[in-house]
Amino acid sequence: MLYTGLLHLHSFLRWVIIVLAVVAIYRSYTGMSSGRLFSAGDRKAGLFLMISAHTTLLVGLYLWIAGPWGLANIRNLGFGEVMKDAVYRFFAIEHITGMLIAIVLITIGRGVAKKDIPDAAKFKRSFWLFLVALVIILVSVPWPWRAVGAGRHWV
Ligand code: HEM
Repeated sequence: MLYTGLLHLHSFLRWVIIVLAVVAIYRSYTGMSSGRLFSAGDRKAGLFLMISAHTTLLVGLYLWIAGPWGLANIRNLGFGEVMKDAVYRFFAIEHITGMLIAIVLITIGRGVAKKDIPDAAKFKRSFWLFLVALVIILVSVPWPWRAVGAGRHWV
């Protein structure tokens, strides 16, 4: 089924994003501390991170609109009931809100590479933007240890 396939893709992409975010953060950090030039590799690290985040966003939007856990619950139960239930609230509101904020930060962080500013400033800005985005992503993923119902598998 299309939905199941996209759910698996969405779930797997988390690892791609996490790995690429760690790489981009590491590169920004070493760039900051070594004073080297901002390279094509640094630019690509941010670009690939942004592409993976936007792909996950598109698939996520589909899951949210077409699936049982997003819009459907708000429509059928009403916003108030969704807010009262920790699991419904997590998927319909918290997950999407956190991830949208993180993806905006990643997009801004990627844009830093194109700005006409000193390389040291590029490293510093992208370091903080990607780091905060990664932290938000890590707290917004339905990890297996989450409260009953909102926890999901590793892949
Ligand atoms: C960095 C971005 C994101 C990451 C890493 C991420 C990760 C995940 C993971 C790991 C799951 C559990 C999958 C499973 O049960 O196997 C999930 C479920 C879900 N995500 Fe995301 N997500 C992201 C962004 C989004 C966005 C932006 C939306 C909405 C626009 C979204 C909507 C959903 C929905 C509705 C589910 C539940 C689908 C279902 O169980 O039927 N996600 N996400």
